[in-house]
Amino acid sequence: MDASDTVSAARRHSPPRARPFVVRSLEERDLGQAAEVEKDAFPTLFPPTSFRRELRSRIARYLVLARTDHADSADPSLPPLPNSGERARGGPLFGRLMNGARQVWRNRNPSWKPGDELIAGFVGLWYVVDEAHVVAIGVRSEYRGLGLGELLLIAAIEQAMAMESRAVTLEVRVSNHVAQNLYRKYEFTERGRRKGYYTDNREDALIMTTKPIGDAGYRERLNELIAQHEDRWGPSERRTL
Ligand SMILES: CC(C)(COP(=O)(O)OP(=O)(O)OC[C@H]1O[C@@H](n2cnc3c(N)ncnc32)[C@H](O)[C@@H]1OP(=O)(O)O)[C@@H](O)C(=O)NCCC(=O)NCCS
Repeated sequence: MDASDTVSAARRHSPPRARPFVVRSLEERDLGQAAEVEKDAFPTLFPPTSFRRELRSRIARYLVLARTDHADSADPSLPPLPNSGERARGGPLFGRLMNGARQVWRNRNPSWKPGDELIAGFVGLWYVVDEAHVVAIGVRSEYRGLGLGELLLIAAIEQAMAMESRAVTLEVRVSNHVAQNLYRKYEFTERGRRKGYYTDNREDALIMTTKPIGDAGYRERLNELIAQHEDRWGPSERRTL
C-alpha cells in the first residue's frame, strides 16, 4: 500500500460532511412554505391542511426540514437556491437569464423570501392515547432521494420516544411503494387495511405500526439505522421538541 492508497482509503472511510439542514418544530413563519410542500407532495389532497390550526392543536406536533445555507455559499450537491440579490454579475444577458430563472423559481415557491430558510419537507404527528400517529410526511420533489424523508422519519420517531409513546403508527396508500419501503426500513409492519380510505380514488390504506419503541431492541435498531444514515449522508441537527 503506498501513500495514495492510504489517502484514498481514508477518504472512503471519512463520513460525509454535515449538510445544511436542520429538523425543527413548525413555526408561524413556515406556514406558507409548509402548504407549498403539501401541495407538491400530496397534489390530490382536499381540503388542504390548515397548518395554522395544527400549530394550535394540543395533540399535533409538526417538524420541518429547513435548509440553512444561502445562495451565495450554497451546497453544490443540493438543488440550487435562488440568489437573493436582484443584480447578477456576468453582463446584461446573463443577468436577464438569471432573473428569469429566479422568477420561475419564485413562482414555484411564492412563500419563500430572500433571507428565509427554505422548507424542503415536513412530518406531522398526532399524539393520541399512547400512540404517535404520522398524519403526513412529505419532501419537495426536487429534494427526494437524498435521505431527507428518512431524516424526517428518524426525527419523528425520536420525538415519539421523547413523548413516551408506545408505538408509531400511520396509514399509507397500497400503491405507495416508495413510502412503504421507507417505513419497512424502520420496522413498521402491516397491521391491517382500511378499505377505500382515500377519497380521490377510493384506494385502500395499509395500516403500519412499529413494535413498542421503548423496547431496547427497537432503540438499538434505530441507533444502527441512524449511524448508517450519518455514514451515508453526514450528520444532521434534529431539534425535535
Ligand atoms: C415518501 C417520501 C417522504 C420519501 O422521502 P425521500 O426523501 O425521497 O426518501 P429518502 O431519500 O430519504 O429514502 C429513504 C428510503 O425510502 C425508500 N425510497 C426512497 N426513494 C425510493 C424509490 N425511488 N424507490 C423505492 N424506494 C425508495 C427507500 O427505502 C429509501 O432507503 P434506501 O435509500 O436505504 O433504499 C417522499 O418520496 C415524498 O415526499 N413522497 C410524496 C409524499 C408521500 O407519498 N408521503 C408518504 C405518505 S404515507
